[in-house]
Amino acid sequence: MKTQEKGTKYLTAEAAEDIGSNPTDNPTLGDVLNARYGRRGVMRGMLAATAAGALLGPGLLASGREAAAGPVPAFTFTEIEHGVDETHHVAPGYEAKVLIRWGDPVLPGAPAFDPVKQTAAAQATQFGYNNDFVGFAPLPPGSASADHGLLCVNHEYTDEEVMFPGVGEEQQKAKFTRMTKDLVDIEIAAHGGSVVEVRKVGGTWTYDPNSRYNRRITGETECVLTGPAAGHALLKTSGDPAGTRVRGMLNNCAGGMTPWGTWLSAEENVNGYFWGKLDDADPRAKALKRYGIPGNWYNWGQHHDRFDVAKEPNESNRFGWIVEIDPYDPASVPKKRTALGRFKHEACSLSVGKDGTVVAYTGDDERFDYVYKFVAAKKFDPANRGANMDLLDEGTLYVAKFNADGSVEWLPLVHGQGPLTADKGFPDQATVLIHARLAADALGATKMDRPEDIEVNPKTGKVYVMLTNNNKRTADQVDAANPREANNWGHIVELAPPDGDHAAAKFGWQMLLRAGTPEVGGQFHAATSKNGTFACPDNCAVDNAGRLWVTTDQGENWKKASGTADGVWAVETEGDLRGLSKMFFRVPVGAEMCGPCFTPDDRTLFVAVQHPATDGVDQWDKFKGKLSSFEDPATRWPDFKPDMPPRPSVVAITKADGGIVGT
Ligand code: FEO
Ligand code: CA
Ligand code: CA
Repeated sequence: MKTQEKGTKYLTAEAAEDIGSNPTDNPTLGDVLNARYGRRGVMRGMLAATAAGALLGPGLLASGREAAAGPVPAFTFTEIEHGVDETHHVAPGYEAKVLIRWGDPVLPGAPAFDPVKQTAAAQATQFGYNNDFVGFAPLPPGSASADHGLLCVNHEYTDEEVMFPGVGEEQQKAKFTRMTKDLVDIEIAAHGGSVVEVRKVGGTWTYDPNSRYNRRITGETECVLTGPAAGHALLKTSGDPAGTRVRGMLNNCAGGMTPWGTWLSAEENVNGYFWGKLDDADPRAKALKRYGIPGNWYNWGQHHDRFDVAKEPNESNRFGWIVEIDPYDPASVPKKRTALGRFKHEACSLSVGKDGTVVAYTGDDERFDYVYKFVAAKKFDPANRGANMDLLDEGTLYVAKFNADGSVEWLPLVHGQGPLTADKGFPDQATVLIHARLAADALGATKMDRPEDIEVNPKTGKVYVMLTNNNKRTADQVDAANPREANNWGHIVELAPPDGDHAAAKFGWQMLLRAGTPEVGGQFHAATSKNGTFACPDNCAVDNAGRLWVTTDQGENWKKASGTADGVWAVETEGDLRGLSKMFFRVPVGAEMCGPCFTPDDRTLFVAVQHPATDGVDQWDKFKGKLSSFEDPATRWPDFKPDMPPRPSVVAITKADGGIVGT
């Protein structure tokens, strides 16, 4: 993501204060735990969580363990070393090859990438910027093909200073004087997502620039709003008086794939695209503030009225949703699923129960924000794809309350229940969903350390929640599920649904690991090497053997957080080796590691190298306190040509002998 630190440098001090500070006084669990165990017990963190787990009545955690179907095999690859340099690194015996880069032609007729002749029209036909989520949809449709499919890739945001000639210095000063309408329109076209047909031949992946499936979705592609909030007054604008059709999707971070072959793309930091000021007396001002709007990260509002909140106060309500896309139909209209609520969605991961119950997990990536799940009203029908296509329009959204006794309660966001009534500012279900953060505040959900990706382990039924960091948590705000103050390193929480029932109202939870080295309170398996430790878990994937793969995003904080560039770490989750972590892949300087995605046979791991040459490059010894620009970036990965800027790219990792990744 565009780091909050980076974002805040574009803000006034007052606006910066609002970002990442959930203003409600919902008590943290620390109050409860302090009362029960005293401050020292809470500060011991992992111990406190363990104690809390031990207090749990028989059933919850135990049932999660019983769900385990045989041991999860250990990782046997040789780990790589911490470090920072211009390029990427992968474990010995593996190959990591760039598959597709920013600017590569995606649609028929797309021009070859020319960084000094960029246009919005060209960019709308080329691979977008800052690839984040990667999903694999097998071809032919419905097959389990592992060497032919559609890659579904999010393009989260843009880094003007390394994209365009001549803007670097000005952008770093947070001025927009050089961001003309033409450049802004290129940015809008570089957002969204791509679908590209890919194939593995002779062990090497290539993409087909002429595939009929290929697609670009941009910040201008028509999307529809569906579900309970569609057409609500808060979604109506001068450009769309019906409140049902939106121009584009923005800040699509991570996501998920569904068992019915669709792609879920999560709109995250949508506040950053808006500027201007709404009158404080406007009844909508409170909600805008809770969502950090306007964020002032971009000057799009200077050139397009819809991004100016004074001119179009409701436009921002049309972003911040889970978008469902059918990658097999390039003419399909992306659907923003309002039933899943509106917030800074990191991702969306599905579980389908034995009876067909569909549960979607999704985190709100903000300091002190929440973990959610959605339980669909109708069941998944494996024999009827059409019947599943709108499953996510009807159901119940819940937010998590982590209790000190090692249980999680799921609190329903349902109009008319508890505090979600008209007199409290929730006149209908649509408002509950559009202002989901306010509804979750009212319910007393647990304020977490930036919930990122969430993945279900199909082998054990457990659920892993990445909590990336929270440097704003104070000593009196620590709790069992967020046990460290000034948490620069993050942690991973494991949820255990009772008897594998993801729809249950109550789960168990435990700490899987606390990130960071032991010196800063990190807690991995004792056999984890220094290279095996990491900071700021962000995205993750679970392979067919039930093993967890974690990618990191330390942002500008990397030197203090871990001292290494971001990368991929493999983490054991079961048995005696639980918590043992090994470093598998490392990104070039200034990049973030996104999109871990396995093919169905686990023989390829796709990863997305996002924003090379940007985050924290001034702290890299070789760059001597400088910031990157188009003219002088910290690295020109992956092309390393003197006239080519750094390019976010998807990388395909395979084992040289064709074996399973991780062995
Ligand atoms: Fe886009 Fe939470 O990272
Ligand atoms: Ca990220
Ligand atoms: Ca992310």
